[in-house]
Amino acid sequence: MKVRRQQKIKRTAKPQGPEGTPVKAEPNPKLGDKLIPAERYISPEFAKLEWEMMWSKVWMLGCLESDIPEPGDHIVTEIGKESILIVRQKDKSVRAFHNVCMHRGNKLVHAVHQPQEAANEFRCGYHDWRYGLDGRFTDIPDLETFPQGAPPCGGLIEIPCDVWGSFVWYSLNPEVEPLRDYLGIIPQHLDPYHFDRMVLTDWKTVEWDCNWKASVDAFNESYHVQGIHPQLLYYLDDLDIQIDCYEKHNRYLIAFGVLSPRVVSPSEIPPPIKVVMRGAGMDPASYEGSVYDIREAVQAHKRKHGEQQGRDYSALNDDQLTDDYHYTIFPNVTMNVHADDLMMFRQRPHPEDPNKMYFDYFMFELPDNEFDHEEYRRPKHRLYKHGETSLGLVVNQDAYNLPFVQAGMNSSAYPGLWIGNQELRIRHFHKTLDDYLYGSNSAARSDK
Ligand code: FES
Ligand SMILES: [Fe+2]
Repeated sequence: MKVRRQQKIKRTAKPQGPEGTPVKAEPNPKLGDKLIPAERYISPEFAKLEWEMMWSKVWMLGCLESDIPEPGDHIVTEIGKESILIVRQKDKSVRAFHNVCMHRGNKLVHAVHQPQEAANEFRCGYHDWRYGLDGRFTDIPDLETFPQGAPPCGGLIEIPCDVWGSFVWYSLNPEVEPLRDYLGIIPQHLDPYHFDRMVLTDWKTVEWDCNWKASVDAFNESYHVQGIHPQLLYYLDDLDIQIDCYEKHNRYLIAFGVLSPRVVSPSEIPPPIKVVMRGAGMDPASYEGSVYDIREAVQAHKRKHGEQQGRDYSALNDDQLTDDYHYTIFPNVTMNVHADDLMMFRQRPHPEDPNKMYFDYFMFELPDNEFDHEEYRRPKHRLYKHGETSLGLVVNQDAYNLPFVQAGMNSSAYPGLWIGNQELRIRHFHKTLDDYLYGSNSAARSDK
């Protein structure tokens, strides 16, 4: 299909005040044009290397702060073969521990991803060893029958844990840098959205038949919109994208409420753009301007009426009122960030099989005046197999395709990813991964 650009996307030139999300375009890093070997997606040896050199070194998203609001509240998350217990302390801080009883190895808390309320202590269900909220042993029945005494560790094995952005983060690495250093630009970029004001409206995990990186890749480029999501060509500009790569993390800015240059202007406002207009409180029937001006009209409308709708957009620039600011927090959190909602995915590797992964799907919405806080029920987490639940049309389209990508990567005829400029974030992601696997000076990437 011929690309016919109707008009260039107008982008906000300045952040919304000194605290606003930076908008400046970063120069593209020079990351070469080498093939990225398929082996990275299918090899158990590579998965082992990832575990040893990357997963066990980085900060990872553990849970939401709102999962554990009160002292004693706790939740278990999993990464690979590790199970992690995150506990709100009496002083309201959070701490994380390996969720394993130091007696005979029972998992201390069995429920996974389910917020558990207000424990005073943790009791192992096997022989009743007890632990305080701080992880220390509080009682070991018949301790005198252990001639060697209590385990010298003194309790559960604690790991680094901290909070940012209304999320709790943990690391398996006792030597990890402070969370803020790891996150780098992320808080400055995303704090203006005030995720703490948003409510969780959906939260589920689906087991997918693909490598976790195949999923991260699928959300790090807009090149596949024309192939997988043709309906979005009447909703966003998939070609005029601002890609910014930072030290570990990256983003792209993609305009919503516009037409792709790949399609010709329809005689009517396309239905997906009508949805954008209605979401802002506009009536598409009374709109008289050009379809190419709708994005800015929506921005102006939200700026004018946001406050009376109960939504505070004061920290966001005009583009943020319509567009998708899409961030990847290395290694596995991908976020579609919008003024009124956050669609966040966490991709977790399968503990044994590089051809499988866990796709964690979180939806958050910014309540408006009509939101009924009394009626609101926090969604309970559920685990599904591929195809057992809907993730909405767009993600369903990605989910449908990914097992075929993984199968193709296992073909003896397929050497690896042939990456173009629209997929620069994928190259940057692999560069960051290589920095962990082979050291930050490594030029070995993509040769391995
Ligand atoms: S395994 Fe926990 S008390 Fe025995
Ligand atoms: Fe997609």
